[in-house]
Amino acid sequence: MKDEMKEEMRAVIIYESTHHGNTKKLVDAVAERYGIPAVTVEEAAGMDLGQYDRIGIASGVAFGRFYEKTEKLVEERLPEGKEVFFLYTCGNDTGKYANSVQAKARAKNCRVLGVYGCRGFDTFGPFKLVGGIAKGHPTRSEIDGAADFYGGL
Ligand SMILES: Cc1cc2nc3c(=O)[nH]c(=O)nc-3n(C[C@H](O)[C@H](O)[C@H](O)COP(=O)(O)O)c2cc1C
Repeated sequence: MKDEMKEEMRAVIIYESTHHGNTKKLVDAVAERYGIPAVTVEEAAGMDLGQYDRIGIASGVAFGRFYEKTEKLVEERLPEGKEVFFLYTCGNDTGKYANSVQAKARAKNCRVLGVYGCRGFDTFGPFKLVGGIAKGHPTRSEIDGAADFYGGL
């Protein structure tokens, strides 16, 4: 029977959202709408990622790329040949922040399904003095946008 033969696709989202929990809001929206487990980058370090077909990588941005532990996880722990997608939040989007992780994933023959990014409240360094930038982000519609993005993959 067709349905019985259909194997369930296993998905997980690995996130690092340490600045203000901005990226975690996107992660929660996707995880809740689609019933996908979400784990921190620290938790993922002790997991067998080979058991998943689709792996989401979510992070805030620091110094032009995903956070250090996340970049490292993609480089060292992402198994070959997976479907991957990326979520991020940042203070001021350049559209390039996911380039590094995408290149690392492609080097492992992973298929990049898509990237979703938006702004997130940022009080790093000098921005703290002016009360931060991107206040109020991610907005409700940016958060919902992350779940819509996943639905469209
Ligand atoms: C140390 C540090 C460096 C940052 N560097 C950048 C950057 O290069 N570009 C940018 O747009 N935002 C930068 N940000 C802002 C964060 O990426 C942004 O606030 C993000 O939404 C934080 O996500 P999180 O709350 O999920 O950790 C930086 C923040 C910190 C704390």
